[in-house]
Amino acid sequence: MGRVYNFSAGPAVLPEEVLKEAAAEMLDYQGTGMSVMEMSHRSKAFEEIIQTAERDLRDLMGIPDNYKVLFLQGGASQQFAMIPMNLMKNRVADYIITGQWAKKAAKEAEKYGKVNRIASSEDKTFSYIPDCSDLPVSEDADYVYICENNTIYGTKYKELPNTKGKILVSDVSSCFLSEPIDVEKYGVIYGGVQKNIGPAGVVIVIIREDLITEEVLPGTPTMLTYKTHADADSLYNTPPAYGIYICGKVFKWLKSMGGLSVMKEHNEKKAKLLYDFLDQSKLFKGTVEKKDRSLMNVPFVTGNPDLDAKFVKEAKAAGLENLKGHRTVGGMRASIYNAMPYEGVEALVAFMKKFEEENL
Ligand SMILES: Cc1ncc(COP(=O)(O)O)c(C=O)c1O
Repeated sequence: MGRVYNFSAGPAVLPEEVLKEAAAEMLDYQGTGMSVMEMSHRSKAFEEIIQTAERDLRDLMGIPDNYKVLFLQGGASQQFAMIPMNLMKNRVADYIITGQWAKKAAKEAEKYGKVNRIASSEDKTFSYIPDCSDLPVSEDADYVYICENNTIYGTKYKELPNTKGKILVSDVSSCFLSEPIDVEKYGVIYGGVQKNIGPAGVVIVIIREDLITEEVLPGTPTMLTYKTHADADSLYNTPPAYGIYICGKVFKWLKSMGGLSVMKEHNEKKAKLLYDFLDQSKLFKGTVEKKDRSLMNVPFVTGNPDLDAKFVKEAKAAGLENLKGHRTVGGMRASIYNAMPYEGVEALVAFMKKFEEENL
């Protein structure tokens, strides 16, 4: 069997060029006679890999010099704890609850201090982003936390919240590098790479330098202190070396594609194809308020769970994989990250049309 169109929410599709390049270098990375997997993280070759990766990421995102880039482990979920451990100086933080991931992050932060849930869209199963232009931001909050793209529900902030001068912390796991962002609006930007950038096992944290301090909560492990990793340029201990190498290749791929503005155009074009179809369909319907629709994750339903299951099964047989919605939501979800080609979305829409004709 050849390659399928993989609509998984993560781990997810990666650019074929990157996978082919990595395959070609598997046994002998650039004349070193070994795989990057087998190489010391202190070697010259790896030093160049991680430094180039950081430089390319800085170029792509326009990361200012007063921000550090850290390549860490532990998944995005580990950041749910690292953020309060490192940033909760007053032991107070404000969370905006737009889905399961923000909810989990807030619950974790509660282990360390007072969490104010200053807005939520749970009243309508997280199908929208609350108005965040004038929220009751707490006077003594150490930061305001958001999950910028909600992987499960398919919503995305089109405007950042007004944090009234407080530090903004954002989980960008499922919209990482999908469009340009203004890094200076954030204190911390972080994400697991397994959706838009590389293999699971790497988390990228972009953090303003003044937030990296030794004054962390008592008992914070060395490994969970940002300063440990910042001081050692992400080489305090053995980093997820092979994963970082693949991330580096994806950064090069993104640059060769024209960077994040071009990527945004591609992503808008792909998403439009699918949303336009959903908006006129008599069988399928999108589940999210139009103004808040994600470019990356597109949930949809027929309204009939048996028909949804039939759709997922028949789509799989047609080479369209991983379209089943999240277990907490049901229905379908198409994740159309950077590496999903336009042709993949065309194939999906053609299949949906055919399914509609046969099942309406
Ligand atoms: C937005 C978001 N945040 C956090 C996570 C958790 O990531 P991890 O499995 O790397 O801990 C996910 C995983 O799907 C996610 O989509």
